[in-house]
Amino acid sequence: MASAQARILADYSPSSFTINQTDLTFDLDDHQSLVSNVMHIERIDQHATYLMLDGEHLTLKAIKINQQPVPAKDYQITESGLRITIAPQLTEFVLSIDTQIDPANNTALEGLYKSGDAFCTQCEAEGFRRITYYLDRPDIMSTFTTTVIAEQTKYPYLLSNGNKVEQGEKGNKHFVVWHDPFPKPCYLFALVAGDFDLVADSFTTNSGKEVALEIFVDKGNANKASHAMTSLKHSMRWDEQTFGLEYDLDIYMIVAVDFFNMGAMENKGLNIFNSKFVLADHESATDTDYFNIEAVIAHEYFHNWTGNRVTCRDWFQLSLKEGLTVFRDQQFSADMNSASVTRIDNVSHLRALQFPEDESPMAHPIRPEKVVEMNNFYTMTVYEKGAEVIRMIHTLLGEEHFRNGMDLYFSRFDGMAVTCDDFVDAMADASGIDLTQFKYWYSQSGTPVLQVTESFNQNTGQLSLTVKQVNQPTSTQQTKHHLHIPIRIELLNEKGSQSHLLGLTEEKGTWHFDGYQNKPVVGFLSNFSAPVKVEFEQPDDELMFIMSNAVDDFTRWDAGQTLLIRFITRLIDDPTYELPNSIILTYQQLLASTLDPALKAASLTLPSFDVITAYLEQIDPQKVIVAIEQVETHLARSLQDSLLEQYQNFTGQPYENHGTATAKRSLKNQCLYYLSMLDDYQPLLTEQYQQSDNMTDTLASLGSASKHAISTFDKLMQDFHDKWQDTTLVMDKWFSLQARADRENMFDVLTTMEQHPLFSMSNPNRARSLIGVFSQKNPKHFHQADGKGYEFLAKHIKRLNEINPQVASRLLTPLIQYKRFNDKHKTMMREALKDIASIENLSRDLQEKLDSVNL
Ligand code: TRP
Ligand code: ZN
Repeated sequence: MASAQARILADYSPSSFTINQTDLTFDLDDHQSLVSNVMHIERIDQHATYLMLDGEHLTLKAIKINQQPVPAKDYQITESGLRITIAPQLTEFVLSIDTQIDPANNTALEGLYKSGDAFCTQCEAEGFRRITYYLDRPDIMSTFTTTVIAEQTKYPYLLSNGNKVEQGEKGNKHFVVWHDPFPKPCYLFALVAGDFDLVADSFTTNSGKEVALEIFVDKGNANKASHAMTSLKHSMRWDEQTFGLEYDLDIYMIVAVDFFNMGAMENKGLNIFNSKFVLADHESATDTDYFNIEAVIAHEYFHNWTGNRVTCRDWFQLSLKEGLTVFRDQQFSADMNSASVTRIDNVSHLRALQFPEDESPMAHPIRPEKVVEMNNFYTMTVYEKGAEVIRMIHTLLGEEHFRNGMDLYFSRFDGMAVTCDDFVDAMADASGIDLTQFKYWYSQSGTPVLQVTESFNQNTGQLSLTVKQVNQPTSTQQTKHHLHIPIRIELLNEKGSQSHLLGLTEEKGTWHFDGYQNKPVVGFLSNFSAPVKVEFEQPDDELMFIMSNAVDDFTRWDAGQTLLIRFITRLIDDPTYELPNSIILTYQQLLASTLDPALKAASLTLPSFDVITAYLEQIDPQKVIVAIEQVETHLARSLQDSLLEQYQNFTGQPYENHGTATAKRSLKNQCLYYLSMLDDYQPLLTEQYQQSDNMTDTLASLGSASKHAISTFDKLMQDFHDKWQDTTLVMDKWFSLQARADRENMFDVLTTMEQHPLFSMSNPNRARSLIGVFSQKNPKHFHQADGKGYEFLAKHIKRLNEINPQVASRLLTPLIQYKRFNDKHKTMMREALKDIASIENLSRDLQEKLDSVNL
């Protein structure tokens, strides 16, 4: 197997030429779009003899320097671009390049492509090189003027970055000229042409500037854009209030498209969104959808400062913009919703997906050092662990110093392409806090483990707490440094709670706390103050005490999760183990308390298969699943009266769209999930489905039925199908429900699903809703003992390799972790990986991941 060529962080060097101004003209056509690209180039390195431009899948039509055609001997087309000889006396020159591209056959959805009837672009990370020859790297910042020409009737809206400066007609075509005054790297370039419904509003900034807000959606969907619009206005206000950051152009546009590889893209002034993160009404979208739309709208908006105004020097610095922007959107979500529930969800997500990634062959620091395919590094590590690293800086500095650090960062680097070190230095300089050791969080991969021991001296009343950090070697890093880890704790007794912030910098630290008559209980890692695993042999009853008494909501929830994982591991070792009755009493009290219903629901939710297995040395998947089912059944039986009471409390209330109503729905539906495990209560599933006036309740009844009442499920799903078959975003939920179901003939049904007229592998949302959800959210059947789940995934990844390498590569995640499974599963998973590795024309994306695995 030939290894793909890697790029190394340490090899960074500035470009020999830069592009100050870029004038693009697009004459749009399905198969023969013409792109004329006029670049004002400046020489940086006086000794450079040639200019190497990036370009892929392009047909070169013409090339000129200062209006003169470049003779054939002076340029060569290579596999990755265009090499042009530049005469030594040319210090500034105009390079014009015409290319032709085929958007309608672009199924990779990078560069210029068609989503349904519309043209759109996706340039991050390195898609611009599929549009024209260019210096496709984020430290080349240029102003862009873009002319879009297309047929008037099919494409009434022609959009690009910045402000509209001109428009006109040319026969049956029309054109619009856009100018973006802010210099930007080409990955932030965007173009859209199509026919849409336009939802318009406006926002007045703190300094009194009026900004036009425009959201473009498919015809007929205008009534589903209001939540996105509200979220945008909330984001704009929040960034002014929290960070003093205002929007800078006169117009902010968002276009929702159905074909999109990721969530959304922050192109300057023209965000392009996966339609699932724009469109919502309560009949078709769940409470979670509403939450996610608000978060993604905020994320992309916040990028305008953290990403666009200050951008990345190179792609190794991706976390500079992504970690920081995720931290910002998490803070925003916490302010707009329940802060505790938001934090709990963030941590669950990190544990379920980032912890395993950090143990896989693809483990990498939040600032990777070696990259083959950049698309492979839009990861949980760079995004979510990156956000945790920013959060730790926030914890170490405190609110005020952190804000000063942000101010200093923007005043130093506005309009520049910079590094993660530059960011941390600004934080250190503004606060006077030394972050030298802290920087190892950027260069070191792996999840640190904190081993905690405590001792109490009854005579002196002193509690001593010792914390040791263990940083295990990872696949690409054998030796590790000690990290600077902020540890927040709570000391609890009947009298109350005291909070402390400990800073662990050495391998081991001991802290003493005086003045206790009896040993206080330690609530460790309040609010998850660092992205670590904790090993702390606290007795079960102390964890239950924390569940009921800690002040920090996260700590209470986390103590419950620790206990549940303990019960599951005990059951894996001994299937006859019986849960202590005290946990049932604890849950009964919790359910009867006045706590936020959403927090009750979170406490009752078992850690997912991925979270549990992240804590296991060697995974026997079927045993884990049986143990999970045992715990769930035990809770359902023992708590049924309390569950039913809560369920009935919240049933029959008409839909309302606000935080309290959402919280009640989440508890009600968690109760339904447990109740439906008991035969007596299964009629509730059909009842709730029939009475539901919102998608959250509908989906909850179907979800529970898919696990516990398959014949009911099939009946209700037919009804759901007939009702929603014209709404593709809702049909994705239908495919996902099928993919998550528990049924004997799982693979027959999956095959039927693939033949469904609405299913298509070339639409990423569709592929993910069936293939992705099955392999990532249905561990029982994905890890079936006969290996059919692995074969199924391998087969589809092979097909997707041809269609869309980026999506194919993401789907590999559950297989790449094969080493953590027991021998039997490991062998079958390795076979599936080998099967994928055997195909011809393996994409760089898959090649890099398969190279990282020792097959
Ligand atoms: N910058 C985008 C975000 O975080 C991510 C993104 C959108 C992306 N589309 C992409 C990354 C395609 C790689 C490829 O919001
Ligand atoms: Zn982002």
